[in-house]
Amino acid sequence: MKYDIADLSLAPEGKKRILWADNDMPVLASIRRRFAKSKPLKGKNVSACLHITAETANLARTLKAGGANVVLCASNPLSTQNDVAASLVKDFKIPVFAICRENRSTYYKHINAAIDNEPVVTFDDGADLVNELHTRRTKDAHRIVVSMEETTTGVIRLRALANVGKLKFPVIAVNDAASKHLFDNRYGTGQSTVDGIIRATDFLMAGTKVVAAGYGWCGRGFAMRARGMGAIVIVTEVDAIKAIEAAMDGFEVMPMAQAAKVGGLFVTLTGNKNVIRTEHFRAMKDRAVVANSGHFNVEIDIPALKKMSKKINRNVRNYVDEYILKNNKRIYLLAEGRLVNLAAAEGHPASVMDMSFATQALEAEYVIKRQSNLAVAVHDVPIEIEQQVCQLKLKSMSIGIDKLTPEQVEYLASSGEGT
Ligand code: ADE
Repeated sequence: MKYDIADLSLAPEGKKRILWADNDMPVLASIRRRFAKSKPLKGKNVSACLHITAETANLARTLKAGGANVVLCASNPLSTQNDVAASLVKDFKIPVFAICRENRSTYYKHINAAIDNEPVVTFDDGADLVNELHTRRTKDAHRIVVSMEETTTGVIRLRALANVGKLKFPVIAVNDAASKHLFDNRYGTGQSTVDGIIRATDFLMAGTKVVAAGYGWCGRGFAMRARGMGAIVIVTEVDAIKAIEAAMDGFEVMPMAQAAKVGGLFVTLTGNKNVIRTEHFRAMKDRAVVANSGHFNVEIDIPALKKMSKKINRNVRNYVDEYILKNNKRIYLLAEGRLVNLAAAEGHPASVMDMSFATQALEAEYVIKRQSNLAVAVHDVPIEIEQQVCQLKLKSMSIGIDKLTPEQVEYLASSGEGT
């Protein structure tokens, strides 16, 4: 078995984390038990470019239980949990190509190793693997039956490809499923972003002016959780509807140019580039902290920050770089502008990844069963799968809900009754 990881001897620690996470992933575990019997992915080569975490390990185990030949590579150079990678290889016999802090060339070498697996199904978190199949590895695109996309940024990239008629195979926007983004993007990002910032800085949130750039599901989650810890939260937006929503949710809303002057902690969650840039850094207070929780490390204009700085003190604390500007103000950049929740913390908690990865696993099964019907396009997850995941999750939480009475079903289906 070929693999490339940091250190196989870390496997015992990784195994403990995988099994600990598994305790909080009951929906995925129930799917794994079923897959082990029915083998819906029997003999299928599957390559997954995902954050290599304990939660992803449990997805990979599920796909393998379903009969797939799974190979994993990282979807971010900083998010790999080396001990988990080691355990996947040693204890679960799943090849992994991922090393935390790998450089760009190793990152792409690893994606290419995953493509060498000749996948028919791929999983992406950010569309880097699919992008490789549309650029440097086009000869391998013909095998792909379906590709699953986990995150908002990836779905945006795939829709852009589809819009110019260049998409080469069907993809599923798993991110857009209610069973994914309503919970993972909101509560997962909300908690894990706060977690990453606190682990990196040990700063007190209470009383801090926190600027959340972006009020999508991730921004909403982060703003809500920062407020819950006593921060005074300001939201910046480019979308009028989301800006009103933030204002009516009780946040201050203002342009970044204004927020830059008052904020103590800035977090980007937009999916766009250069959201915090030269003029904003220039306006910031001494010792402002800047972090990113969007998929790529482009939301903060780091080259501009470097250019404005007379000195950079790397690693003044783990995951904290100090930039000293020419006007002597200090700005602290967390996790090199990469996903702070996965770099400085452990990503979203297992309980919420349970829903995202259960959606992924069920969708893979669904598509493989019906593969011949799928057009080359970006597809949504069917509502039945979203419902199934949510029902299983409710059951695991011991929460019961009501059923429509026959009279209510009839009422909803009719237009007759009014005032
Ligand atoms: N994305 C966000 N959190 C994650 C986690 N814990 N595992 C895999 N992908 C993630």
